[in-house]
Amino acid sequence: DWTPASIVDDSVEAIRAQVGDAQVLCALSGGVDSAVAAALVQKAVGDQLTCVFVDHGLLRQGEAERVERDFVAVTGVDLVVRDEADRFLGALAGVSDPETKRKIIGREFIRTFEDAARVLNATKDIEYLVQGTLYPDVVESGGGEGAANIKSHHNVGGLPDDLQFKLIEPLRTLFKDEVRAVGTELGLPSDMVWRHPFPGPGLAIRIIGEVTKDRLDLLRQVDAIARFELTAAGLDRAIWQFPVVLLADVRSVGVQGDGRTYGHPVVLRPVTSEDAMTADWGRLPYEVLERISTRITNEVREVNRVVLDITSKPPGTIEWE
Ligand code: XMP
Repeated sequence: DWTPASIVDDSVEAIRAQVGDAQVLCALSGGVDSAVAAALVQKAVGDQLTCVFVDHGLLRQGEAERVERDFVAVTGVDLVVRDEADRFLGALAGVSDPETKRKIIGREFIRTFEDAARVLNATKDIEYLVQGTLYPDVVESGGGEGAANIKSHHNVGGLPDDLQFKLIEPLRTLFKDEVRAVGTELGLPSDMVWRHPFPGPGLAIRIIGEVTKDRLDLLRQVDAIARFELTAAGLDRAIWQFPVVLLADVRSVGVQGDGRTYGHPVVLRPVTSEDAMTADWGRLPYEVLERISTRITNEVREVNRVVLDITSKPPGTIEWE
């Protein structure tokens, strides 16, 4: 019988057998899969593993710190952080088109990661790269998910010839719930283990319009309120994902405090789903919606309207871009 502890033991043994005394590299994204994969490899081969975290500045409030501080504290992993927010913002300047945003972010991500890998490789002679591939990705055989045909998704891949690593895929036989159980067994923080799916291009595709630092800061504030209230209502596991979208190029008239305002609307997009291929809009209780709406418009001056997306997928995708 498989228990989280026995999965960990078996994986550790298999990783040790595969890796021997070679050096290993892993890219952390802030997500569950890369975190659990890295934690397993760390447990197996310790400081033969180096992790790289490319902070593209498009994560939500607290997520970079989760990786840089909490993940490192729990696992003792050797982590290289690349703070590349300015680089990504610079590359995204003036861009509103969703697919163009995705391509730019994917490209910059690969370049930054390659660059970090080259620097490390010069001294460490790295042989293996860890990938957080899960069993459903393997059987779907394309890797990634079905929505890839509709929106280009980016993953770490396509590294150039001088960086030909062999792959270690410690989650290759596991389903998502097993990955979470293993992460918990390894002592990872529960909000990391239970993190909702989050797109690689991050908040850039939840800002409709150009991505700027101010807009990111604004969306981070709003998103943090929505997530906090969802968690407080005990609905994290009932809801598959809860994007909050900033309609940055839209303004509407409102009245806040003593005067007329001309602010931005935000869209709440709670969805339920089994696999993200199809989804239904999440029926959040009115009291929860009310609390989120009131808090956002009270606490975030630039937002004077909160709207709810009640579209299923299809026809709407989960993300707005
Ligand atoms: P859509 O919006 O196509 O999203 O219904 C389906 C699922 O995929 C996530 N998503 C992405 N994940 N890179 C990712 O890693 C991406 O570019 C990307 N775009 C969408 C989305 O959050 C949802 O879970």
